[in-house]
Amino acid sequence: MQPRILALSGSSRAGSLNLRLLDAACVVARAQGATVTRIDLRALALPLYDGDLEAAQGLPAGALTLKRELATHHGLLLASPEYNGLITPLLKNAIDWASRPQPGQAQPFAGRVATLLAASPGALGGLRGLPVVRQLLCNLGMLVTPGQMALPLAAQAFADDGGLREENPRQMLERTVGELLATARALRPPLAEAPPAD
Ligand SMILES: Cc1cc2nc3c(=O)[nH]c(=O)nc-3n(C[C@H](O)[C@H](O)[C@H](O)COP(=O)(O)O)c2cc1C
Repeated sequence: MQPRILALSGSSRAGSLNLRLLDAACVVARAQGATVTRIDLRALALPLYDGDLEAAQGLPAGALTLKRELATHHGLLLASPEYNGLITPLLKNAIDWASRPQPGQAQPFAGRVATLLAASPGALGGLRGLPVVRQLLCNLGMLVTPGQMALPLAAQAFADDGGLREENPRQMLERTVGELLATARALRPPLAEAPPAD
């Protein structure tokens, strides 16, 4: 079974360290047999969540896109920068919109698997923010793998080809992504629609 993995970052900043770690993780996931779809949260152009806006206009197109992408993938690879020990507003807002119900549609997070990554220029690698993301996704019914990866001193961590310079983080990324794919293969959550032929 070829796991379908949705990859996204809580930062869309040009030069984002989390995007760079996510890129490296996507390379690993494809090498380990996954089909990977990247989604750019900034490109979804989501307004700040507002219940009055939702009541008046329904879900914005970007929220429907994110819900559909979640529902058509077995798992989520998520790079989450740490802002003041927590989660970025870009990521929290996107998750809040995507969690809103749609008549006749299942919750797109429930029963799927997620694996968390973080990168920071600091010494802790964004590790303090990951329990918050874990709890948030668990609240939405996701299974979050025990393995996760926080990359410290990330501004110096990448080689020119986008890969990780050091052997230890390279191996950790392979293990972490491998756990995501193994769990997706074991869980086989049903997809909302048949995936396109690869
Ligand atoms: C508002 C704000 C708060 C931050 N708080 C933390 C923090 O708590 N821990 C940390 O390691 N880095 C923190 N940083 C630094 C980020 O880790 C750094 O800007 C990082 O590059 C952001 O991720 P990105 O490169 O993927 O955009 C903070 C940055 C901002 C803008």
